[in-house]
Amino acid sequence: MRFHGVIAVAAAAVLAVGPMQAAPMHHHAAPPRAKTAAAAQTSGLGEIMSLQQMRHSKLWFAGSAGNWPLADYELDELKEGFDDVHRQFPVHDGIRLAPLLEVIEKAAMPDLAKTIATRDAAKFAQGFDALTAACNGCHQSTKHGFIVIQRPTSLPYTNQSFAPGPR
Ligand code: HEC
Repeated sequence: MRFHGVIAVAAAAVLAVGPMQAAPMHHHAAPPRAKTAAAAQTSGLGEIMSLQQMRHSKLWFAGSAGNWPLADYELDELKEGFDDVHRQFPVHDGIRLAPLLEVIEKAAMPDLAKTIATRDAAKFAQGFDALTAACNGCHQSTKHGFIVIQRPTSLPYTNQSFAPGPR
């Protein structure tokens, strides 16, 4: 019974793959170059942003747990992510991102770094909210105001301890 099932699945897979393999050959005749490049760039920024979202979340839980070296680390990762945006997407959908990035890179992030250095939970929370406001400010300026970032409410990463530990 099981064996038959496997054969049936394999046969279905072959049938499914057959027509799809023919499709790319068709595309090669007239490659929609400009469109493909634009689509790749758009998804690239979305991917960097998804990483930023993870770092933003981890940063909150690191600071909330008083794990300041981890908070520092995540803030640094965020900086690197925005450096990538700077390099790869100086302009996105006709909007210059560079001046918008400066708001977050030259104000919100250095201010938050200072609050992390004070190891003061209340100050950290304030700095974190200012960072989040800067995320949303850029989303609004880039016609993505429907992407609203907020303080995370629960930790999605159960395989990492956020408690202060050995450095
Ligand atoms: C310089 C402008 C800018 C800043 C600053 C910015 N974003 Fe974005 N973000 C964008 C743009 C533009 C998009 C839409 C990207 C696209 O079209 O794929 C986006 C998309 C997103 C998405 C949606 C990704 C997806 O595919 O679901 C998330 C999540 C996100 N940003 C999180 C953040 C967080 C968190 C911060 C702050 C730490 C931040 N962003 C700061 C411009 C910015």
